[in-house]
Amino acid sequence: MAKLTTVYTCQQCGYKSSTYLGKCPQCDSWNSFVEEVEQVGRGAKAQDGGSIAGKRAEIVNLSEVDKLDYKRIDSGIGELNRVLGGGIVYGSLILVAGDPGIGKSTLLTQLALNINKSLYVAGEESARQIKIRVERIKQKANISVLNETDVDTIVGLIEDYKPSVVIIDSIQTLETQDLDSVAGSVGQVRESAHRLQRLAKRMHIPIFLVGHVTKEGTVAGPRTLEHLVDVVLSLEGDPGNQFRVLRATKNRFGSTDEVGIFEMEEGGMVEVKNPSKLFLDTKIDAPGSAVVVVMTGLRPLLVEIQALVTKTSLPVPRRTGSGVDNNRLQLLVAVLQKRLRLPLFDQDIFVNVTGGLKITEPAADLGICMAIASSFKDLTINPKTVFMGEVGLLGEIREVRNPEKRANEAKKLGFGNVVSFNNTKILTQAIKQLTK
Ligand code: TYD
Ligand code: MG
Repeated sequence: MAKLTTVYTCQQCGYKSSTYLGKCPQCDSWNSFVEEVEQVGRGAKAQDGGSIAGKRAEIVNLSEVDKLDYKRIDSGIGELNRVLGGGIVYGSLILVAGDPGIGKSTLLTQLALNINKSLYVAGEESARQIKIRVERIKQKANISVLNETDVDTIVGLIEDYKPSVVIIDSIQTLETQDLDSVAGSVGQVRESAHRLQRLAKRMHIPIFLVGHVTKEGTVAGPRTLEHLVDVVLSLEGDPGNQFRVLRATKNRFGSTDEVGIFEMEEGGMVEVKNPSKLFLDTKIDAPGSAVVVVMTGLRPLLVEIQALVTKTSLPVPRRTGSGVDNNRLQLLVAVLQKRLRLPLFDQDIFVNVTGGLKITEPAADLGICMAIASSFKDLTINPKTVFMGEVGLLGEIREVRNPEKRANEAKKLGFGNVVSFNNTKILTQAIKQLTK
């Protein structure tokens, strides 16, 4: 029988110590020690009754392995299915990460309501609080809730109850008595997730783990789990508006390009079927506004970019982007300064993607440049125009992937003027044409 002890291990160099140390004596790094379970004695590795226990490992040739498509469960939420790659894969461990208050519990409660014999393990809220949420979503409270934070008890109960899907809200509240550290510490979070992962694989039950992102994004947060889980979903959005974007940043069973778009409403998270229309509903035609088409997976999406360029009162002017990458923004401003001789050196520049969406595609470069130029020159862009193009360091505009798909979506929504250029045209010409 294996005996359990715990050790503190340096995450940088692997140095082990029986007590917590602030600084590693071997590699000199600070705060790198995490408590871990160590098993000594015979059968240490085969602990926990996993499927590998007691068996010798075998080498297999892939040609002998049967090809089976992943079996999936329909979550009843189309946008969630899409992001997962077509539904929930049996036995998968799915981390749902996001800021507190963004809607993780709401979305997963809706999921639990859609699936028969689901189990909601609540470490944060009481059954009554969940009932209040379910009533808000206006459904019959047909959902099993377990109020427990001890991971080993939870594992035992799941083995007996055999639910079809489990939701753990949240992983930061779980703990095992085998470790001395408090719930929420890196050691506890990781060990709890490990135990649930073995359970998911052993019983072929999909398990969702809710993880709060801490401000730093690292400390005991979901980041320490990313390598361990099969899928990482991140729920993003601006708490100030109702849009929420669900995206897979890792997916062993599907693409990571797809996004699901929701609106947080009084009755819970509502799927948005025609997001482009929604994102453009509030658009006003004023200087500083430009529309771009970005691809989210296979779906083209029209979004508005707003820019505000004003004289600075600071020695170093500000370049602040929300929804766009700040480094990319700096680069585009530099290109505008150098290649177009726009005197932006004494101007503060703010760029915002409306609807709280985050744009990562370089195809939006041209639109960002146009929004900045339009605000700086105080000229309104033709309201029926959309932009697509990547901007290079020489001020050249490169073609984007799937240009026809994007153009078709734009035309469908009444944007007749699609501006995209090939390599021979440079940004100067583009801007001249628009601001004449
Ligand atoms: P919640 O799912 O509790 O967030 P998380 O689990 O990510 O911390 O959602 C919290 C917010 O959502 C809260 O401010 C209330 C709001 N909300 C609605 O607007 N409509 C609803 O139907 C529900 C259940 C919550
Ligand atoms: Mg919650």
